[in-house]
Amino acid sequence: MRISVIGCGYLGAVHAATLADLGHDVVGLDTDAGRIEQLAAAQAPFHEPGLPVLLEAGRRSGRLRFATDPAALAGADVHFLCVGTPQAKTTFEADLSHVVAAVEALRPHLRPGAVVVGKSTVPVGTAARLASLIADTGAVLAWNPEFLRQGSAVRDSLAPDRLVYGIPEGPYGEAARAMLDAVYAPLLEQGTPRLVTDYATAELIKTAANAFLALKISYINAVGEFCESAGADVVALSRALGHDARIGGTYLQAGAGFGGGCLPKDLRSFRAQAHQRGVEPLEELLSLADGINADARYRLAETAVRLCGGDIAGRRVTVLGAAFKPNTDDIRDSPALDIALQLAAQGATVTVSDPQAGPNAWLQYPHLDFEPDPLAALGGAELTVLLTEWAQFTTLDPAAAAAVVANPLMLDGRNALDPAAWRAAGWQFHAVGVGLAEAGAAPVLL
Ligand code: UDX
Repeated sequence: MRISVIGCGYLGAVHAATLADLGHDVVGLDTDAGRIEQLAAAQAPFHEPGLPVLLEAGRRSGRLRFATDPAALAGADVHFLCVGTPQAKTTFEADLSHVVAAVEALRPHLRPGAVVVGKSTVPVGTAARLASLIADTGAVLAWNPEFLRQGSAVRDSLAPDRLVYGIPEGPYGEAARAMLDAVYAPLLEQGTPRLVTDYATAELIKTAANAFLALKISYINAVGEFCESAGADVVALSRALGHDARIGGTYLQAGAGFGGGCLPKDLRSFRAQAHQRGVEPLEELLSLADGINADARYRLAETAVRLCGGDIAGRRVTVLGAAFKPNTDDIRDSPALDIALQLAAQGATVTVSDPQAGPNAWLQYPHLDFEPDPLAALGGAELTVLLTEWAQFTTLDPAAAAAVVANPLMLDGRNALDPAAWRAAGWQFHAVGVGLAEAGAAPVLL
């Protein structure tokens, strides 16, 4: 099928490359000429495992092209909207200006029978509004939310948990459903569940899924705080909860909390929508989860200061991690950088290490020191704080690390290291949600 993908960011670039991999003829469109140039040369503009291979395969087969000119949209049967919906600058709401601009750019190139498929995460009611914008073109709108995670986006796209189609009732909706079935034929053949709903439900499925993941993380972080005060161990607790199939073990890792370009802003957009509709219990629940998440960052910074005897000014601190999670170079709303900045603001001399996100972070925060090599970053550190659980950090040799620091004091903000191994190598080891009460009471760096 001939397909266009509008917006080539973390979502659209991966979506375009996987659609070409599924056998379609794909053109990716973006207003950022630099990004399009890179993609056309089969270079991934951001770190995403597996993407370079797919881009190269698409370039070689000729099935994957990229363009900045909307004229390239003409001739496609299906148009995917993959532009961003960031949090608005002054409110909790989603900023829909990119989605509206994409539909405006697409409008003149739509032909009767074409299908416009929204993938961006949007507030309920957006799809209906966009459908009315294209009603006179004879094209039909469908909403097909995307659930991919950065860092495993290629795998998630080629083997999704489910496909959701939000379509209108009647023959137009049926036509859209048939087109989407053709687009995703290889995934449907491998047994991927497909759920067909109305627009509002499809929009809400995505928002509710992300908010639920955020709730789970905030729940375990709140329980982690309780564990600290009770001298209990949130890691063992979480592992035990995970054995209960009704609960499930994922998104129960206590630590620095959630960040990135999706969970925080989707939680806030849902909260704003609940407020607008007067659904107070949901608004309160989501707002509490957001507050617990902010608190997780603050409490970690506070613990770091306590471990330094109550004053971190002048201390040399190495922060392991800048990306909001491993396997990405994305620093949007990163807990690691947030905490690094809190410590720097209190006078600490902070060196940040990250295998991929250093350049992005340095561009935004040039006053922090960046060192990609973890052992070099650890040189002379009086306190080390692990905040993004990259394999490069979790596989560090504690003895080699102890040999380069000024003081072997570790605060594991992701519960990602083996405490026994680090203690055996001479480290004073503290982890979030694990018996921190006593450690907090007694500063260990005086
Ligand atoms: C998320 C959703 O998972 C995905 O379905 C949606 O399409 C986009 O938003 P992503 O933003 O890539 O994906 O990140 P995810 O892997 O979900 O992690 C989000 C944040 O939660 C990260 O900062 C991560 O470190 C944190 N997290 C995750 C925890 O703190 N604890 C956990 O147990 C799991």
